[in-house]
Amino acid sequence: MNPKKRQTLLAGSAGLTCLAVPPLGAATYQPPKADKPAFEFCAALARGINLGNFFEAPIENYWGMSYDESLLDLIVQAGFKTLRLPVRWSTRALATAPFTIDPDFFNRIEGVVQAALKRNLHVVMNMHHYRQINDEPLDEAEAAVATKDVDERFFAMWQQIASRFSGYPAQLAFELLNEPHKRLNETKWNQVFERCRQTVRVTNPNRWIVVGPAQWNNAQALKDLVLEKTDRRLIVTIHHYNPFEFTHQGASWTKLKDQSANSVDCCDASQLNNMFQPLDLAVAWSQQQHRPIWVGEFGAYQKAAMPARVRYTRLARKAFEERGFTWAYWELASGFGIWDPKTKRWREDLKQALLGNS
Ligand code: BGC
Repeated sequence: MNPKKRQTLLAGSAGLTCLAVPPLGAATYQPPKADKPAFEFCAALARGINLGNFFEAPIENYWGMSYDESLLDLIVQAGFKTLRLPVRWSTRALATAPFTIDPDFFNRIEGVVQAALKRNLHVVMNMHHYRQINDEPLDEAEAAVATKDVDERFFAMWQQIASRFSGYPAQLAFELLNEPHKRLNETKWNQVFERCRQTVRVTNPNRWIVVGPAQWNNAQALKDLVLEKTDRRLIVTIHHYNPFEFTHQGASWTKLKDQSANSVDCCDASQLNNMFQPLDLAVAWSQQQHRPIWVGEFGAYQKAAMPARVRYTRLARKAFEERGFTWAYWELASGFGIWDPKTKRWREDLKQALLGNS
């Protein structure tokens, strides 16, 4: 994956967008009546976690993570309210029209969604790593799609997914694409998202749809995100990994891959500034547009020292909640994981940083 751009942003005003817990000192913001349901849904997402590196691997188990339902029990017992379910549909669909999704894979994902809903979790199911739509090189198991078909295939996959899940309860939300970037610049993403939204709305007029800005869902691109004004069932997501030099030190898929482990600490005043600025920008945008904000990914990779990861995680989580944002941590059991699949234990300090009250 290309290095993510995390730029310094100018601060906006602080305020309440969607309530996870009572805001600590945030100015109150009341959305217009028509937008209350969206803010309430966003609030209900509360504290969540990504089931990362399971179903968005090119092939299941390919990245060493093997799913079973007991993971969902762990998530519920810990106190998380939402499961973000990253899914790579693009290696499981035909490369040519009608772009049919593999029925076994469909059943597999439907089973996970059902198991999570049965446990009263909210589920945000997405499309992750459709490489060609961003004009990224192909991964293993990914068939090349004709250039003219790349977007059509995206709409066709969502047409199938939306129709398959149309009867599901409101606790299931669709996030149409993880981290649009590169080819999907601001203008192109607005067009592609809008057509996909219309496709989904045919079968799911009321489904909550999650959408983030271009530039890997960076808050700084919110200003260019154009959403259909009459659709008030949209939840806006940002991904937040600032300070990036800390959270991604030594991460093989970034430009920081050659950094040795534990070479950057966290969090001094300038790092905190770097952490808060995009959030304050998101607050200002949210209040202007009357759209709630959900931080769908944040976390620090395992190459940072554990005490610093714990500090960062607590500071970031509190910064979101002080601004009224709800969130989902990246991720459960892999390189950023708060649960160790080898020892089958929680990394207690990290878990506490996320789920504690202080
Ligand atoms: C990507 C992961 C990556 C994470 C943090 C996610 O959106 O899908 O591959 O580990 O961001 O960089």
